[in-house]
Amino acid sequence: MKTFPGKFITFEGGEGTGKSTQIKLLSEVLANCGIKNISTKEPGGTEAGLEIRKLLVTGDKDKMDAVAEALLYFADRRIHMAQKVWPALAENTWVLSDRFADSTFAYQYYGYNKRVPEKVLKELYKISVEDFKPDLTIILDLDPKIGLSRSFAKADNMAVKELRFESRDLEFHHNLRNGYLEIAKQEPGRCVVLDADKPIEDLHNDIVNLVMERFEGELCRS
Ligand code: TMP
Repeated sequence: MKTFPGKFITFEGGEGTGKSTQIKLLSEVLANCGIKNISTKEPGGTEAGLEIRKLLVTGDKDKMDAVAEALLYFADRRIHMAQKVWPALAENTWVLSDRFADSTFAYQYYGYNKRVPEKVLKELYKISVEDFKPDLTIILDLDPKIGLSRSFAKADNMAVKELRFESRDLEFHHNLRNGYLEIAKQEPGRCVVLDADKPIEDLHNDIVNLVMERFEGELCRS
């Protein structure tokens, strides 16, 4: 298993679950505790990844199928790991990532009703991420109806609408939500599910408590 001095914390969940807000808040707490950290995202955490992101999140929802999507997400991920995540972790910088490989299993596997064999995704994981996984994965769980309406409201202010997945039907979003819960059941040591239908500050406190507990000894209590 590839190990590093820095911690890799990933945030997962459906659309509009508040991942980026929570990452920003946690990043500030960590910095106040003297923990050097960076925030990043998938897809699009690197320059090349931003080009891949554009292909994936804009345009017609049926312009490519789940297999093509999975290949592109893992290509983005490989670049992200090699150029940004592993070098930061090696320097003892903690990395907070808005989405990682669980998104591919939730969206491209569970979302599409298991149309891509899981073993293909697991193989792609091995090739692109090697023997490495997050130290902690926080899954923000929310009724997709609430999350989607937040996402559509946010997109009103975007010049380029990133709504390719939001345009899929509600069944897709329910499938991927259940997929995340299934992933959490399969890997209870790594994944923690939190209720994202809470005020931002309450959810933030849940996240800080979780991170304090998980990495006790490495963090100050403020
Ligand atoms: P974002 O809007 O959270 O930045 O994520 C981009 C979109 O890509 C979002 O709709 C979720 C989707 N996605 C996948 O379908 N599979 C993946 O592996 C990742 C990382 C994201």
